Amino acid sequence: MAQEQFLFFCVNVGSEKLLKEEIKTFYPELSLSYSRKGFITYKNKGVHYKISTISQLQVAFATRVGICFGKSAPSSLHEGLDIALKQYSVSKDDCLLHSFSINTDAEFDASKYFDRAVNEYSSMGKNVIDLICLGEKEVWIGLHTVGKGTTRYPNSQVEVDSPLHVPSVGYKKLSETFKLFAIKTNNYQSWLDFGCAPGGSSMFLLEQGCKVWGIDPADVDEALLENRLFNHIKTPMQDLSHETLPDEQIHWIHADLNLNPKQGIKEVLRLAKKYNSTLSGIIFTVQVVNPRTIQEIENFEDQFYDWGFSNIQSVQVPSHKKEYGLIAKRK
Ligand SMILES: C[S@@+](CC[C@H](N)C(=O)[O-])C[C@H]1O[C@@H](n2cnc3c(N)ncnc32)[C@H](O)[C@@H]1O
Repeated sequence: MAQEQFLFFCVNVGSEKLLKEEIKTFYPELSLSYSRKGFITYKNKGVHYKISTISQLQVAFATRVGICFGKSAPSSLHEGLDIALKQYSVSKDDCLLHSFSINTDAEFDASKYFDRAVNEYSSMGKNVIDLICLGEKEVWIGLHTVGKGTTRYPNSQVEVDSPLHVPSVGYKKLSETFKLFAIKTNNYQSWLDFGCAPGGSSMFLLEQGCKVWGIDPADVDEALLENRLFNHIKTPMQDLSHETLPDEQIHWIHADLNLNPKQGIKEVLRLAKKYNSTLSGIIFTVQVVNPRTIQEIENFEDQFYDWGFSNIQSVQVPSHKKEYGLIAKRK
């Protein structure tokens, strides 16, 4: 085992402060070592992670977390990597390769140095070498394993298609969440979309063939109103009751509200109770209104556990700004 252990955290550019606040709150044994836009390393002064436990380190504001082996000039990459992997009893040939750049136009051609193709996707249980290019000749080397809750794409960057006209970034936020966290829906399912205006998230769900009940006092895009599978309930959610919500099966709830998250979660869970027997999950966007919101990450999750959800993740997808998604699924 290594004498000193460093960990790397990739983060959306602009969310570095949020990540640091999260680490300070939940992982005080980590001490900041190096910080760049989109990439931060910490020295682990606590119990060292092993290759079998590193995927348990789940941080909402990190797009990738792993053991950090430092930076290397491309010419000496193999030498450093071989020594580092030996400490963890991992064979280079058994690892997948993820290679990506952060906040730079420079690219590192990993396939040339490893003489094999890099991987665009990883599967459960695999060890992955991360080659993280931060500039010309600056490549950081890391290692992560794919566990439950680890996204499969290099640094969680996914390409999502969107139509020419989308009413808002809500379309992209939700499509990235679907792709990264393998959320499946179909045309037999109905969704409630709390805070649906102007309509990006609802448009995405309609494109999956779902029926959508959008709840928002604000106006929605014309394209939604023309869709026969969309219904607009133009009322603030606090004014709704189980009696005024649709009397049909609802399978999923999405919520993205300009509302204090504590209040938003309370209202969503109050109304969700009506659909206790049919609901598969809730995707709730937590707006980070101040640093205190970060300290509440676990409390927010606990409210969903208390309600009966068993599979809960707090995550930031590439299009999230001062916000993150809480994904709560039932078995
Ligand atoms: C970030 S926007 C939602 C974006 C939307 N999901 C989309 O994809 O276009 C937040 C929305 O929350 C709505 N909102 C705020 N308070 C609300 C409440 N009490 N009930 C319902 N909607 C509310 C606002 O009107 C606003 O349209």
